[in-house]
Amino acid sequence: MGFSTDAIHAGHGIDPVTGAVVTPLHLTTTYAQEEPGHHKGYDYSRTINPTRQVLEQNLAALEKGTWGLCFASGMAAMSSLFQTLKCGEKVVASDNCYGGTYRVLRKVFAHQGIASEFVSTQDLEALEEAMDDSTRVVLVETPTNPNLGLSDIRAIADLIRGRQVILCVDNTFATPYLQRPLELGADLVIHSMTKYLGGHSDAMGGALIGLSPELRDKLAFIQNAHGAILSPFESWMILRGIKTLAVRMDRQCKSALEIAHYLEDHPKVQKVYFPGLKSHPQHDLALSQMQGFGGIVSFDTGSLDSATKFSAALKIGVLAESLGAVETLVNHPAIMTHGAIPEADRLRSGITAGLLRISVGLEDVEDLLADFAAGLDAMG
Ligand SMILES: Cc1ncc(COP(=O)(O)O)c(C=O)c1O
Repeated sequence: MGFSTDAIHAGHGIDPVTGAVVTPLHLTTTYAQEEPGHHKGYDYSRTINPTRQVLEQNLAALEKGTWGLCFASGMAAMSSLFQTLKCGEKVVASDNCYGGTYRVLRKVFAHQGIASEFVSTQDLEALEEAMDDSTRVVLVETPTNPNLGLSDIRAIADLIRGRQVILCVDNTFATPYLQRPLELGADLVIHSMTKYLGGHSDAMGGALIGLSPELRDKLAFIQNAHGAILSPFESWMILRGIKTLAVRMDRQCKSALEIAHYLEDHPKVQKVYFPGLKSHPQHDLALSQMQGFGGIVSFDTGSLDSATKFSAALKIGVLAESLGAVETLVNHPAIMTHGAIPEADRLRSGITAGLLRISVGLEDVEDLLADFAAGLDAMG
């Protein structure tokens, strides 16, 4: 089936009791048992919920995995992966990653004896050097948040083949519509579904999707034992969001490319980060591992003062955390989403005081361009 057909139908089905076309929202916490231990496959909603189960099957189909597991947020999904690790084991992660990934590894899992090292996963030699016998997870964010650097998933999968290491790709920015890491050799995909999959800034969620049944068993055990599950209501909202993912992404990719070109040609803009630009150092890699360039454009205004004036002048773009929704959101990574990363590390990966990240929404692109023109004018 094509992507949009799967997005709308995979995992779903006509309700056998009522004929309802839309997957029902099962708010029950518990299920009747005929006799102790004999039931219809559902016993308690932390362990299994029919609405969440449909979303898990839907995600598995979209990412070309065999299973999916849903959690209360992207961070809950990520933490559940790290909870499979033992004291003394290590995670190697992309250095230009979401600030919360850095925070949870350095400020939570470090206290439990789980080591982490952040390297540019765009540099295979640096990645190889960072891996040692204790490394169990390589976490690659591609495109990275916020500088949109790309890592070569196929090459990293080749590099770690034969080692006892899980290659996990954070596919939040690309979504399975634009990139399917499992087909490129990764073992696991992670999503913040709060972003493009939900798509409307009204539901939080996270997911892990993979192929290995052993890995599924380990993660499903953590999902149930630790209990950071996705609620039935959020599952239902995200299922609804996914149905329009392809059309939203098509429009957001198109508008983002136009905006990236506009910013690149503007004399007040110091640098534009967007994989769809020929000037992007990994434009060719984007063409070979992605089916589109995404809806996020980051650019450097040169200073905190300019970034502040730009965002204050906007009438459509909203200065807010998060991304991937119908409305255009503008974020200042150094102060907002990536504030947990020490300044020296931030600067090394290009997160300057003047950097802004735009999550391009579904508004008319002419209106967005006019809004950004006003923002650039206000920079003085
Ligand atoms: C790339 C990426 N991964 C993970 C997360 C964490 O997801 P959540 O906010 O749903 O916990 C985010 C959040 O911004 C993100 O951008």
